[in-house]
Amino acid sequence: MLPQMWTLWATLICLAGGQLASATLCRTYGTIPGIPGIPGQPGSDGRDGENGPKGEQGPPGQGGAERGEMGDPGMPGPPGKVGPAGPPGPPGMPGMVGMPGPMGEPGDYKVTSKSAFSAARSISSYPRREQPVRFDRVLANANGHYESRYGRFTCRLPGTYFFTYHVTSRGNLCLSLKKGRGSSRGDRVVTFCDFVHGSFQVTTGGVVLQMAMNESVWLEPTEKNSLVGLEGSDSIFSGFLIFPEA
Ligand SMILES: *[C@@H]1O[C@H](CO)[C@@H](O)[C@H](O)[C@H]1NC(C)=O
Repeated sequence: MLPQMWTLWATLICLAGGQLASATLCRTYGTIPGIPGIPGQPGSDGRDGENGPKGEQGPPGQGGAERGEMGDPGMPGPPGKVGPAGPPGPPGMPGMVGMPGPMGEPGDYKVTSKSAFSAARSISSYPRREQPVRFDRVLANANGHYESRYGRFTCRLPGTYFFTYHVTSRGNLCLSLKKGRGSSRGDRVVTFCDFVHGSFQVTTGGVVLQMAMNESVWLEPTEKNSLVGLEGSDSIFSGFLIFPEA
C-alpha cells in the first residue's frame, strides 16, 4: 500500500468513528494532513501474457546461389570391355635344338644310283663314219640313261663307269669311244682297230671312265666301219656304274 493511501485511510478512520476518536492516533494529528510517506519499493514483474496468433507465411526463400564444397571421389567403376587384338609382335628367338628323331626308312640310294645299259644293233647297214653308232635294240636300260635314238649314254649319276662293246665285223673296223656334252662332236677317249678279210669276227674293247653330270659317251667308227648287226652275229654296246661319286 502506497504511503499516501495509508495516510488517507488513517484520516478516514478518525473522521468516521467518534468512539475511536479517544485513541491517541487521531488526537495527535487532528485534521492537519501529515507529511507524504516515502515511495514504496517497485513490485515484482507480472506473469507472461498468452501467445499471440500465428503470423502470416513469409515469402519463398531464395535458392542458395553458392555451390557447396566438392565431395570425395567415388569408388572406381567396373573394368571396361576387352579391346581389339593388337598387331603381331616380332618373331621370337629360335627354339632349342630338338632331340634326334627316330631312324628313318632305308633310303632309295641303291635304287637311284643304279645305272646300267646294254643295247644291240639291229640295223643291217654299216654305220656312217664319224657318226654315233646306233644300238637301237635296248636289252637293259636302268633308269633310262641310254638313248637308243642317238646311241648315246648320258650320265645322270656322276661316278666311275665301265663301258664295253662286243661287235661283229666282217672287214676292217676301227671304233672310237667318244665322250662329250650335248650335241658336240666330242673327244675320242680310246680307239680300237681290227683288220680282217672276208670272215666274221667279234672284236671288243672296254674302258673305265670318270663321268660328270650330263656327259655323254658313244661309239663312232672311222672310215673302217664294217660293223654288222645281223641276227646271230650281234653287236652290243654296254655300260654300267661301278660306284657313284662320293
Ligand atoms: C643337266 O641337264 C639337265 C637337263 O638337260 C639340266 O637341267 C641340268 O642343269 C644339267 N646339269 C648340269 C650340271 O649340267
